[in-house]
Amino acid sequence: MRQTSLVVVANRLPVDDTVAPDGACEWRRSPGGLVSALHPILHHTPATWVGWAGGTGAAPSLPDVDGVRMHTVALSADDVRDHYEGFANATLWPLYHDAVEQPVYHRRWWESYQRVNQRFAEAAAEIAEPGAVVWVQDYHLQLVPGMLRELRPDLLIGFFLHVPFPPPELFMQLPRRAELLLGMLGADLVGFQRAQAAHNFAQLCAKVLNVPATDRRIAVEDRVVRIGAFPVSIDMAEMEQLAGRPDVVARAKQLRVDLGEPQHMILSVDRMDYTKGIEHRLKAYSELLADGHVKVRDTVMVQVVVPSRERVEQYQVLRDRVEREVGRINGEFGRVGEPAIHYLNQPFDRAELAALYRAADIMVVTPLRDGMNLVAKEYVAARVDNSGALVLSEFAGAAAELTQAYLVNPHDLDGLKLTLMHAKEAAPGDVNARMGAMREHLRDHDIQAWARSYLTALDHTGSLAARLTTD
Ligand code: G6P
Repeated sequence: MRQTSLVVVANRLPVDDTVAPDGACEWRRSPGGLVSALHPILHHTPATWVGWAGGTGAAPSLPDVDGVRMHTVALSADDVRDHYEGFANATLWPLYHDAVEQPVYHRRWWESYQRVNQRFAEAAAEIAEPGAVVWVQDYHLQLVPGMLRELRPDLLIGFFLHVPFPPPELFMQLPRRAELLLGMLGADLVGFQRAQAAHNFAQLCAKVLNVPATDRRIAVEDRVVRIGAFPVSIDMAEMEQLAGRPDVVARAKQLRVDLGEPQHMILSVDRMDYTKGIEHRLKAYSELLADGHVKVRDTVMVQVVVPSRERVEQYQVLRDRVEREVGRINGEFGRVGEPAIHYLNQPFDRAELAALYRAADIMVVTPLRDGMNLVAKEYVAARVDNSGALVLSEFAGAAAELTQAYLVNPHDLDGLKLTLMHAKEAAPGDVNARMGAMREHLRDHDIQAWARSYLTALDHTGSLAARLTTD
């Protein structure tokens, strides 16, 4: 096996299996994301991505993606149930998102989480050349940095958490809290989306592990672990280019025609997840319809929900609740051929998504808690003519950067209704000024800038720097 000087370790590989027109299975690069960011900055540095391809079969062997080698870690059906659906998505995910759903604790899940993390660590240890940089991603793999340091103390190890890191009062619930913190502390640099998360982590390390900790540095035995905030972003150029494609522009126009040429089109795009505040949004919209502030013919709402983690019980319950509510609202306020809410529960193609972003004059992103929320940033990227109002929850990481959005507390239903009306009735000058400022911010803070800033901070010794391009 050829070793490389940069190894990314993430639960998922950046590929999707799609079905070609002839019925054959094809692997395609997942759009946007970190892999496209690595390509321009790594230039001639060979890199490998270690991850799961989805499914429970034997590990498929995959072609390179943008010059990055794919190394598959196979998961069995038990691993998927106990590690991915269990500990990652029914214990950590709700706990890290303000416990908006009750986290579930099972010892069997924790054992599986350890075993799967060990497997990822071993794969990375095998692939990394001496002194290489290994960059571990997200909550599925929090033990990997520590395990990898045991196996390969020569490596420079980074860890980045894409989701929120909770305050001590919540994290303290976790039965194996000390092990998880120690796992993350195996890294040289632990990155978070927001400074508050780094602060929570430092406080917990001091409290649980009794080690000296500030919001920038934590001392562990003979090492210093650096921590900090590195807000993740999107591939701005890719989305701008897609949104400007003539077929996408034509599709956006057609969508408005298909929707009956309304004055306003409100769009929401979420994974089907209880953190996204879908029900709060539907409630606010239904009250606006009932109050007569919104009329079905003038305004249409399109709610796209992408299926997610469908075997996890809380996700099944949520889907039932959302669909019941959409049915109720359409039953009460719709007319023949004019539903109040156009609801789509299916995976979406990138070009169709870009067309929806271009068609919608109001985008509503109202998670109850979200590490970042890249949909909000994608909408901004797609609004190439500076039009479009973004209504954004204060509890999304993106709100710290997209401060010109129409910010809202999604728990405050009256506030949410008022903000929706404010966005709907805003003067074009105000809308354009806000969108222009957010677009300018994203131009300087795209995913390439994010990856470069994290890797530069990680590589304070300069071993990778010579190979990172600066253009
Ligand atoms: C969040 C996580 C990612 C995850 C994604 C989709 O954004 O931070 O790590 O890949 O959700 O969830 P899934 O369970 O389908 O990987």
